[in-house]
Amino acid sequence: MRSFLPFVVLGLGLLATAGPALSPRILHEKRTHVPAGWTLKRRHDPSTPIPLRFALTQKNINDVGKYLMEVSHPDSELYGKHWSAGDVLKTFAPSDETIEAVRSWLLEGGVESDRIQLTQNKGWIEVAATVEEAERLLQTEYNLYSHTSGKEHVACDAYHLPVHVAPHVDFVTPSIHFDAKLTRRDSTQPAHSIGQPGPGIGPKTTGKLQAQLPSDTSTCNEYITLDCLRALYGLEYTPNATGSNSYGIVEYTPQAYLQTDLNMFFGNFSPSQNGTSPYLVSIDGGYAQTEYQGFEYNGESDLDLQYAMGLLGPSQTVTLYQVGDIVEGASFNNFLDALDGSYCTFEGGDDPSQDAIYPDPYGGGYEGPEACGTVTPANVISTSYSYDEADLSVFYATRQCAEYAKLGLMGVTILYSSGDYGVAGNGGLCLNPDGSQSTNGTMFNPTFPASCPYITSVGATMIPPNSTVYDPETACEEVIYSGGGFSNYFTIPSYQQSAVDSYLTNYYPSYPTNIWNATGSRAYPDISANGANYLVAIDGGFELVYGTSCSSPVSGAILTMVNDARIAAGKSTIGFINPTIYSSQFAGVFTDITTGDNPGCGTNGFNATVGWDPVTGLGTPNLPKLLQAWSALP
Ligand SMILES: *[C@@H]1O[C@H](CO)[C@@H](O)[C@H](O)[C@H]1NC(C)=O
Ligand SMILES: *[C@@H]1O[C@H](CO)[C@@H](O)[C@H](O)[C@H]1NC(C)=O
Ligand SMILES: *[C@@H]1O[C@H](CO)[C@@H](O)[C@H](O)[C@H]1NC(C)=O
Ligand SMILES: *[C@@H]1O[C@H](CO)[C@@H](O)[C@H](O)[C@H]1NC(C)=O
Ligand SMILES: *[C@@H]1O[C@H](CO)[C@@H](O)[C@H](O)[C@H]1NC(C)=O
Ligand SMILES: *[C@@H]1O[C@H](CO)[C@@H](O)[C@H](O)[C@H]1NC(C)=O
Repeated sequence: MRSFLPFVVLGLGLLATAGPALSPRILHEKRTHVPAGWTLKRRHDPSTPIPLRFALTQKNINDVGKYLMEVSHPDSELYGKHWSAGDVLKTFAPSDETIEAVRSWLLEGGVESDRIQLTQNKGWIEVAATVEEAERLLQTEYNLYSHTSGKEHVACDAYHLPVHVAPHVDFVTPSIHFDAKLTRRDSTQPAHSIGQPGPGIGPKTTGKLQAQLPSDTSTCNEYITLDCLRALYGLEYTPNATGSNSYGIVEYTPQAYLQTDLNMFFGNFSPSQNGTSPYLVSIDGGYAQTEYQGFEYNGESDLDLQYAMGLLGPSQTVTLYQVGDIVEGASFNNFLDALDGSYCTFEGGDDPSQDAIYPDPYGGGYEGPEACGTVTPANVISTSYSYDEADLSVFYATRQCAEYAKLGLMGVTILYSSGDYGVAGNGGLCLNPDGSQSTNGTMFNPTFPASCPYITSVGATMIPPNSTVYDPETACEEVIYSGGGFSNYFTIPSYQQSAVDSYLTNYYPSYPTNIWNATGSRAYPDISANGANYLVAIDGGFELVYGTSCSSPVSGAILTMVNDARIAAGKSTIGFINPTIYSSQFAGVFTDITTGDNPGCGTNGFNATVGWDPVTGLGTPNLPKLLQAWSALP
């Protein structure tokens, strides 16, 4: 942590000459409603200390999409010329001008310089303020809210910044951000990470298998196994470049795999892997906990690892990023902090209402330092957790989304499951006109990070009843519906413009435009893969599991095979794949899914159609075609 002492003179100089104190204020962020479960208790006490944090805008960040296209578009001369972590750090660190603009305004506002600190990564300015002072600086009023769970939270409805400061600040915490449900301080219960385990999130199960384990692919319409996926997607592949290749699966504690479950799965379906484990990378105290067991604790991790490891076989190690301790849990930002030293936030610079803070400020949790730029990202990273876009502020989502672009610049492929509730959000929540979410809302509710244009969103398909692995798949309509739709936060990226235009021209959805975002925004998913009837060994028995939680790790394993072939041929990793897979060079490479839909919010959702659609994206992978198309690229 550094103080600002070297800058003091400059700050005073500004104060003496210019008149930015008179700079008019503009509204920076505003909330329309208090989220469900929270009630206003009272105005916060003026003299209470409040740790104000200013997220500084990053230099060149508005160009991140352009840089990403340069290294990711197959027509670009720079295709595959990925950046080093150092290039990323240098390019996006906040500029001295940004730091100085915020700092000198605070000094003018009467904050002594020893109360203003810049985090080591220069991403945040932190101020030890009082509520009264914060209210004056931000022209706002802070209130105390309480949640039905007993949790308290400090927030305001809106806040303002001087016109000359606003362009340098992404957002301020605490302020309007209200998503405080992810961590809990009830030490008798494990943490809730990313709402997991929680209602409506994670894969679904219909319970224990009531039949014999299948021994061939004749029952893939009822039970998906490794062999079914191999038959469906042409996965005849033995990895060659395993020493230099990597595939990472992200899990958020208390979600954890059980070694006995892996043994049971591999013993039956991949005997040479019986007894093997993923390579564990612990982030912020993460470990494969065994204290809490049950489908909601083991289902996701067991599923992800059994299928990721099983498809790749014994020679390719799979990395498990286990994030967060059992007390605080963790969020996507905690994971991203670990990968990127330019994003990590010392001294709790993350949004404390959203992200876990390490070392645990309350005691009892992980006391070590927060992982910050210490973890090397795998070439492909699959995550099967999600938020609803509306859970997060635009600023928060935008900042995190740009971070995925930086990983893409470094040649990393980021996959996220698209959600399991069709056009509705997690748990079947839909939007109301005021921006709140409820199960009786009528407006489609996009998920995040699916809606971020810099990740690859994976939807779900299934083998229709009474069909075989040789028949066309359909959009998943068993137990879950493939998450899909149009973002309310992100505009459409150029790479999918023509695919989405074509969908909207030929199959314009028959809904009033006030229930879906018809402006032509970022549309998802990008691709899909089977997400129904997976046989997964969980808590000592085989269960049938459903969800885009299945589709994402399977797609990641397939893309890892493509990376293997490219690395073996001395080429770059595939990195951010969207500009490639939507390009004309890849026409017909994915298997188009043209039937089924993704109901939600009291509608049948969208239809799967010929070409890209907001149910199954471009379609399902076909490994031989993927290998061929990617081997034609430099
Ligand atoms: C893997 O290596 C073997 C032996 O070097 C070679 O015959 C095979 O073609 C390679 N496969 C791929 C996909 O590169
Ligand atoms: C897996 O290996 C263990 C010994 O390491 C053995 O006891 C078990 O029977 C094997 N599982 C199966 C299903 O073959
Ligand atoms: C939706 O449900 C909430 C309770 O969850 C209720 O207060 C509200 O009146 C309902 N709205 C409609 C339009 O039914
Ligand atoms: C599938 O086949 C079974 C028996 O062969 C039949 O009872 C059932 O109706 C069929 N289902 C569909 C969707 O065709
Ligand atoms: C639709 O999406 C765009 C982003 O492309 C956004 O600016 C707009 O506010 C969204 N509309 C609604 C009603 O949320
Ligand atoms: C989906 O297709 C059906 C049958 O063609 C049609 O009636 C319906 O309007 C379509 N749905 C949308 C959202 O366009």
